[in-house]
Amino acid sequence: MSWEESTKQKMLHLQLPTDPRWVDIAHMNIGDILVDHAYCEQKAASSCISLIVNFHEFTELVDTLTPVVAEEWGHFERVMEQLRKREIPFGKPRKDEYVIKLSQFVRKGGSKVMQLTEYLLMNALIEARSCERFKLLSKEIQDGELQKFYYELMVSEAGHFVNFLDLARKYQDPEKVNARWKEWLEYEAEVIKNLEIRADRMH
Ligand SMILES: [Fe+2]
Ligand SMILES: [Fe+2]
Repeated sequence: MSWEESTKQKMLHLQLPTDPRWVDIAHMNIGDILVDHAYCEQKAASSCISLIVNFHEFTELVDTLTPVVAEEWGHFERVMEQLRKREIPFGKPRKDEYVIKLSQFVRKGGSKVMQLTEYLLMNALIEARSCERFKLLSKEIQDGELQKFYYELMVSEAGHFVNFLDLARKYQDPEKVNARWKEWLEYEAEVIKNLEIRADRMH
């Protein structure tokens, strides 16, 4: 199966495609996009570390996410290298409205497995949306090196998306996971619909 076909099956759980106006303005503003992207990779690594610490008794989760932390940090390093090459200053983190909105949907309370399911599904969604956006950037960016860079990251984030969903279905009844995943997907589509389209944000 080609990459395109497999991503269609794996990734297009997303209910709403990114507004094409985003990539039109984002690819013209690559300095800000790269800085925001660096912080997205940092947050991805931090989020996996938190899962490992807070859910240390879930051995397969720890074993699966430990190398993902290294991969996300590797992505961070690669974004930093692109910034250095282009002499773009790093700068401070920006408010991440997308992640703030998603966090508000995390259901509090319940068993530890219920809590874990919420975090795994939220992380899976962030991976899916990032993957979709990296794909758009890889197609629209003029710079050949960045096209390749975003294509490679798209492939990597697709793998993480699968990791998170597989883990959720390992620890929680898959039917419950599927029902909650549907709610998360619907909520994420609403978030995307209402988020301001900005040239300086990855999401
Ligand atoms: Fe990443
Ligand atoms: Fe990732």
